[in-house]
Amino acid sequence: MARLAGIIERHANRRSFLKNGITAAGAATVGAGMMASGLSALAGEREHERGGITEGDAAVLRFLAAAEILETDLWEQYNELGGVDAPPSAYQTGLTVLDGDMPQYIADNTDDEQSHELFINAYLMSKGVKPVSLEPFKNLEGSQVTEIPGVASRKRLTNLMQLSVDTSWWTRYRSGDQNPDLGDSFPNAVPTLATGKFTAIPRNNAELGITVTSLPVDNHIQAIANTAGFHFAFIEQGGTSLYAAMAQKVTSLEVLRIVLSIGGTEVMHFQTWHDKAGNAKPLTDGALVFPDLTNDIPQPESLQSNLIMPEPTVFLSKKFPVCSIIRPTARKGIAMGAVNALTKDGLFIGQTPDFFEFLADLAHEADEAERELER
Ligand SMILES: [Fe+2]
Ligand SMILES: [Fe+2]
Repeated sequence: MARLAGIIERHANRRSFLKNGITAAGAATVGAGMMASGLSALAGEREHERGGITEGDAAVLRFLAAAEILETDLWEQYNELGGVDAPPSAYQTGLTVLDGDMPQYIADNTDDEQSHELFINAYLMSKGVKPVSLEPFKNLEGSQVTEIPGVASRKRLTNLMQLSVDTSWWTRYRSGDQNPDLGDSFPNAVPTLATGKFTAIPRNNAELGITVTSLPVDNHIQAIANTAGFHFAFIEQGGTSLYAAMAQKVTSLEVLRIVLSIGGTEVMHFQTWHDKAGNAKPLTDGALVFPDLTNDIPQPESLQSNLIMPEPTVFLSKKFPVCSIIRPTARKGIAMGAVNALTKDGLFIGQTPDFFEFLADLAHEADEAERELER
């Protein structure tokens, strides 16, 4: 209860800072500018823009900081268990079935997310805006693997052991006449993965299979590695759309530069994982069925594994010619949409009401942000 009270107090402080602090500072800058040199209010506002950031830009960056902290937390778990510095195991070998370089890619994706998180928070602080911390919510039990030191004792923000992975991004990026921004929805490429609750990491030593490096790996462990492979792409396609949508809401050119530059790496992550997921080994593990997306003939284009480039599709309006694009990119409700998608993914199973409240609050602030046009 004490913790919840503390969080509410922090919210209140942040709100009053965002609503009053920046506005007041902006007004002071405008006033000082007018008195000192007779500059117009417009010039004063531009001055303010160079020195600080707008309330909307702060809200967008604070939400993105939270998203990056969540990404870091989940990627760290994958990296500890299957990254290039993890000890050889059946899980890691199962991942290399998707691509021999998977452990390196996992480590690099983890580095990238850490850098995004640290950069955005440092930038916020440089502008006098409170950085985002999710440390109070890092209380979830993770994998209980004891054969890799430190894994079992570390507390987590995200849960990778009860996932319902949405794989509709696969068919969405292969569609040539539909777009979620125009109201279309898409079937899953791996339907069973979306309907059950599956682990994407080894939960214990048996599922890790330490030192077992020969192929084929145990069917269940390969299913866990396959699940991870599709989850990687699910996470990064979300980041791809999130940044493209957020870019349309920011005011400062420098903040736009940050959003575009980081967002571009999310696209690269997604593209990499999209390519690898198609190599997941076809198998059945209980209720979980990975279809053969590579060899099944006839394979409809909506599933064909080598169609990893975004198929040109309808964009903005059906009156225009089709265009190869990121999808979706509509900005309305994008932040809360991201929170809901991650919640549905099972990533937050076990989290507390105050965690959801904190995240929803950040999302609402970001969803309210709109680009401020020069008058
Ligand atoms: Fe990121
Ligand atoms: Fe990412």
